[in-house]
Amino acid sequence: MTLAIDPKSRRVRLDPRDPKFFGDPYPAYAAIRAETPAFFWEDYGFWCFASHADVSALLRDRRFGRQILHVMSREALGWPEPKAHLKPFDALERHSILEMEPPEHTRLRNLVNRAFVSRQVERLAPRIALADERIDAFVRDGRAELIAAFATPIPVAVIADLLGAPREMGPKLLDWSHRMVAMYQFGVTRAVEDGAAAAATDFADFMRGYARARRADLKDDLISQLLIAESEEGRLSEDELVTTCILILNAGHEATVHAIGNAVKTILERALDPRELFADPQTTAAAVEEFLRLDPPLHLFTRYALEDVEVAGVRFRQGDRIGLLLGAANRDPERFPDPDAFDPTRDPNPHVAFGAGIHFCVGAPLARLEMATAPPILFERLPRLRLAERPRCRDAFHFHGVEALEVAWG
Ligand code: HEM
Repeated sequence: MTLAIDPKSRRVRLDPRDPKFFGDPYPAYAAIRAETPAFFWEDYGFWCFASHADVSALLRDRRFGRQILHVMSREALGWPEPKAHLKPFDALERHSILEMEPPEHTRLRNLVNRAFVSRQVERLAPRIALADERIDAFVRDGRAELIAAFATPIPVAVIADLLGAPREMGPKLLDWSHRMVAMYQFGVTRAVEDGAAAAATDFADFMRGYARARRADLKDDLISQLLIAESEEGRLSEDELVTTCILILNAGHEATVHAIGNAVKTILERALDPRELFADPQTTAAAVEEFLRLDPPLHLFTRYALEDVEVAGVRFRQGDRIGLLLGAANRDPERFPDPDAFDPTRDPNPHVAFGAGIHFCVGAPLARLEMATAPPILFERLPRLRLAERPRCRDAFHFHGVEALEVAWG
């Protein structure tokens, strides 16, 4: 791995597509943090933060926002005109709560939040037990690739249920979502852009048609709650409804797949004892937090300076972008003693795997429930589970997950 750190200028060169880096980014984070926890990452072209104190504070700092176009024009930012071929994708982004700031953000988030209160989420527990069905499908084979066979199908089925989307749409939803999420990777090509735009068009068409059909068929699901809000004048536009459903479907499984994959990998690589980890609901909950701290699935989120501001001795102008390294913050020895060790007894465990502040993950209770349900079922059914091959990480640095998790048992 070519990592060049210049502590004087606080500039770092590190290719996010270097397999040695995305395969295990933690040694590079540790080296950078030790020299300069705030650094200009040349390959991205913006300042990044790697200490827990900075990341946690900046996630909550209202002088920074996910959106900038509400306070500055594209012209003032020096941004080029939006690309015509990305119009369908941009149209969805425009109404995404992730890309909004208050007051729009608050209004939409309150609507979505209702679906995620614990009582609602707990009703999904039996659905997550579809883990058993997945295992039944491959148990006789003696080996499996767990990302495709286990970690991927569960979250998409659960989130489709919560939203109220038809279950048989699962594979289609996965395909659209993968093509759209590819836009957040480093070095996006025209082919990726075209794929994302086509997926956004198809996904939005489907969602619009489905929502219209469901207006006359309200049930006890999130889409019905959003439809009711839409019909009560002014609370939600149809475009917002369509985008919100798509965001929930995408965000609702992409990260969870890899959170489950990373947790299973941690258990197997470190030869942890699943019976001890998952002995009761308390130990299970603590283990889930430690899996998320040690190897979170999302590593980089950005913010814009909404005003001129100075942080860690760096002066930012309104409109400047910064990067917050969640995966680095979670291994900061200043906050987590012996940060590379798996220690579920950490209490408190203030990891930032779900972010913090106003954009804190709305799906955290659901993700936690899925992580507390699926891996224990896997290890209970297959107690002799072992790695059959060294897990390969995906070439997508900030979606930190395993591409293939080949396992065997028996
Ligand atoms: C382990 C799995 C998950 C992880 C690690 C994760 C992580 C995150 C993080 C870090 C953010 C904040 C982004 C930022 O501050 O810029 C976020 C936001 C969000 N997450 Fe998750 N997430 C997970 C699962 C889910 C699930 C299951 C859903 C279900 C709907 C979900 C829906 C969302 C939404 C809608 C937002 C935007 C919230 C807002 O902007 O107010 N996530 N997530």
